[in-house]
Amino acid sequence: MKFQYVFLLFVVLMTSTIGVKNQVIASVWNPIKDVNDPHVIDIAKYAVTEQDKKAKLNLKLDKVISGETKVEVGTTYCLNISASDNIVSNKYNVVVLEKKHFRNLTSFVPLQG
Ligand SMILES: *[C@@H]1O[C@H](CO)[C@@H](O)[C@H](O)[C@H]1NC(C)=O
Ligand SMILES: *[C@@H]1O[C@H](CO)[C@@H](O)[C@H](O)[C@H]1NC(C)=O
Repeated sequence: MKFQYVFLLFVVLMTSTIGVKNQVIASVWNPIKDVNDPHVIDIAKYAVTEQDKKAKLNLKLDKVISGETKVEVGTTYCLNISASDNIVSNKYNVVVLEKKHFRNLTSFVPLQG
């Protein structure tokens, strides 16, 4: 009787632990609700600045149009932004990985339309 109780408790604990682990591992993309959030703007500005350095451009961020985040080892930001040089404004899809104080622009590609 006592053993069965302990065993049952053990099973319950194991199941809940596995459940929690699965939730952490199964990371999903979450839409960014507020594209004017200062941190989101900061990430977008970082992406434009990095791209300017890499490609010797002079783009400036106009605004963040939409975006999603995914939390894994760090947070991955996938943003659609509009940026312009002095003449034209274009849309880009940018991906930035942020881990504590480390950031890396992993993708910066023009969006069609
Ligand atoms: C960016 O825009 C494209 C084209 O409109 C859309 O398919 C995609 O879902 C958008 N991505 C994000 C992160 O908002
Ligand atoms: C940043 O991302 C690029 C592209 O994914 C990768 O090649 C590079 O190694 C990354 N840099 C760092 C410091 O992780």
